[in-house]
Amino acid sequence: MTAPHTFRIAAIPADGVGKEVVAAGRAVLDALAADSAGSPRPFAFSWEEFPWGCEYYERTGRMMDDDGLDRLREFDAIYFGAVGWPTVPDHVSLWGLRLRICQGFDQWANVRPVHFLPGVTSPLRKADDTDLDWVVVRENSEGEYAGLGGRNLAGRGPGGEVAVQTALFTEVGCERIMRFAFDLARTRARRKVSSVTKSNAQQYGMVLWDDVFRRVAADYPDVETESVLVDAMSAKFVLRPEELSVVVASNLHADILSDLGSALAGSLGLAASANLNPERRHPSMFEPVHGSAPDIAGRGLANPVGAVGSAALMLDHLGLPDQAARLRRAIETTTAAGVRTRDVGGTASTEDVTKALVEALNA
Ligand SMILES: NC(=O)c1ccc[n+]([C@@H]2O[C@H](COP(=O)([O-])OP(=O)(O)OC[C@H]3O[C@@H](n4cnc5c(N)ncnc54)[C@H](O)[C@@H]3O)[C@@H](O)[C@H]2O)c1
Repeated sequence: MTAPHTFRIAAIPADGVGKEVVAAGRAVLDALAADSAGSPRPFAFSWEEFPWGCEYYERTGRMMDDDGLDRLREFDAIYFGAVGWPTVPDHVSLWGLRLRICQGFDQWANVRPVHFLPGVTSPLRKADDTDLDWVVVRENSEGEYAGLGGRNLAGRGPGGEVAVQTALFTEVGCERIMRFAFDLARTRARRKVSSVTKSNAQQYGMVLWDDVFRRVAADYPDVETESVLVDAMSAKFVLRPEELSVVVASNLHADILSDLGSALAGSLGLAASANLNPERRHPSMFEPVHGSAPDIAGRGLANPVGAVGSAALMLDHLGLPDQAARLRRAIETTTAAGVRTRDVGGTASTEDVTKALVEALNA
């Protein structure tokens, strides 16, 4: 028998429903690996779980250990839950953990597919009779989330403080995310890239973005393009989503648009994402799009589909596309069979859906 190839995965469930959905994703991945024993290409996962997050912050004053990035560096991938809890300011928790990992490992491409599932009702009437399937590619290293700026002049007294938050756009940053988007478009049935900005109002960074988009597009004459302002693009998501294939946008715009996309598909709990360092100099990180959902945390109500879909993206990244496809089919079988959590109109618990997903692997 061939010895299994073991992938080393760092699990960071972090906060709230992050813990529930990472446990679900791990169970499904382990079932997939167990099933590969005896196959021509067996594989296994060796997990190490890190306790970082808001509880860790309350105990230690740190969201993650100071040497955290060095410890994560050795892994093949990072499987992340969600960060944030009402006891810690959101900007402290997000910057202290998730953004620190994304920036520290130059995970500059954030891929967020908008995928419609059988058995899940979309608020879009169009979804009933139209094939809808697009992917948001988010610039994940600079833009509005570059973390540049400051607060000052508090000495002026109450009401006198000022804050500056600067968006950073570099040609290098724009060009690499656009080439990524065009290359992705070439792998899809519809070869089209829609670029999103607000360059009519933001005349420096976003005009640079538009210029780079035009320059890069010239290298991909076989790919259709369009440039759409973000306000018009949000309307397009709702009214003409069938015209979308790859949507490339800045850190903030793509963050918002991908939440809109997942809501249109039926729930924030369904959406998967990959934070990629495409050069593979550092580990990439896979996480559901949603946050820690304190309103439903710890009650078995969390939809694990977004986290399991993120596990499928991780399998693609690890060079196991057939297993990724199998996982996606299991998700479709499960939702089509009506095993759904409350957010998508069902009554099943996180655990029920996880069990159904494991069973559906061999359906
Ligand atoms: N990537 C991340 O780690 C990330 C992303 C967004 C928000 N956050 C953090 O999460 C916390 C809560 O933020 P929020 O309320 O704006 O966003 P959220 O995504 O946590 O929740 C928004 C809504 O979606 C629902 N929801 C989210 N995930 C779900 C799931 N798996 N199943 C069913 N329903 C689900 C929630 O119940 C809530 O009603 C904040 O601390 C925020 O900073 C973290």
